[in-house]
Amino acid sequence: MELKKKRNAIILAHYYQRDEIQEVADFRGDSFLLAQKAAETDAEVIVFCGVHFMGESAKILAPNKTVIIPDERAGCPMADMVNVDGLRKLKAQHPKAKVVTYINSSAEIKAETDICCTSSNAVKVIESLDADEIIWVPDKNLGHYVQEKTGKELIIWEGYCNTHDMLTVKDVVEMKSKYPHAPFVVHPECRPEVVAMGDFVGSTTAILEYCKNSDAKEFIIGTEDGTGYQLRRDSPDKQFHFATKFLVCPNMKVNNLKKLVKCLETMQPQIYVPPHVAEKARLSLERMLQVK
Ligand code: 13P
Ligand code: SF4
Repeated sequence: MELKKKRNAIILAHYYQRDEIQEVADFRGDSFLLAQKAAETDAEVIVFCGVHFMGESAKILAPNKTVIIPDERAGCPMADMVNVDGLRKLKAQHPKAKVVTYINSSAEIKAETDICCTSSNAVKVIESLDADEIIWVPDKNLGHYVQEKTGKELIIWEGYCNTHDMLTVKDVVEMKSKYPHAPFVVHPECRPEVVAMGDFVGSTTAILEYCKNSDAKEFIIGTEDGTGYQLRRDSPDKQFHFATKFLVCPNMKVNNLKKLVKCLETMQPQIYVPPHVAEKARLSLERMLQVK
């Protein structure tokens, strides 16, 4: 893309983006890898193909870069399920608690946070904390999973991902009877009873790695359908059956190739985070990136 060179831009795309966007991206990744990439890149412009909070995280980590997004209406309903007033009230009830926030959250919430995490490092982040009380926002499903994995009790906010939470035990039972030899791989944003049925539970990247390296020839996939692009690219000889046809995040799909080209032409819409919010939010993201 000529225009991309002219702008000295890098295109980052989340694995849930439409195929036509993933095809032209310089780098595809999950929310953790994309945040890392944004922090490291030498490009002057970051075109963030994902949802709004991801663009915000890129801007917070790379404040001197211009961050544009194909369509600013690409939001995340889960991120909108927690607000600053509510979180402050909870913090006031638990003044000694550390606040761990899933990266699927607004910059304002990150600014109220001790440390962020993604689904790929949530367990490590919790284990890295020396705290008697931990407030966890906003994903209750991931919170339950992390609680089980670490044995640490969390004070869990009641948010969830509309897309992953839609997958039911009944859906999985049906798929397992249809494809009895296919392992069921599932993202921890799904309901706890669905996660419990998983032959493998992991973040988007962990699911991709598992399917690539497994000897199995077919899989039942319990995460967003955009991952099919990378799954098929990695293993063209394997079959991937999505557990329902509803595993589609409508917000991720708001972006398309036409809008991607347009935003490079117009350099709009740009992500803006007020500096006083960005400064505090950056600490919580940087702490996350330091957890090994
Ligand atoms: P990851 O990219 O961290 O796996 O998150 C999944 C997700 O739902 C992003 O919105
Ligand atoms: Fe938000 Fe769920 Fe869409 Fe991810 S898949 S952006 S958590 S609504």
